[in-house]
Amino acid sequence: MTAERFDHPDVVICPGGPLLLRGEHLVADADGRMHRTTRPVSAVCRCGKSADQPWCDGTHKVLPDKQKP
Ligand code: FES
Repeated sequence: MTAERFDHPDVVICPGGPLLLRGEHLVADADGRMHRTTRPVSAVCRCGKSADQPWCDGTHKVLPDKQKP
């Protein structure tokens, strides 16, 4: 792995928000169903409140701090 590879991480954890995935991935939801990423960067919900699981729909922004991931 080269140094350039580390300039653009594949996974970024957003404080209080989603997990960002760069590139193509398969994501398993809580029921074990597989979802393929379709965007250059995909946001995976970490708060559990998104209506579009397993993807982040922005709901985490209105959650009280204690419920944010
Ligand atoms: S992290 Fe964004 S809706 Fe859950």
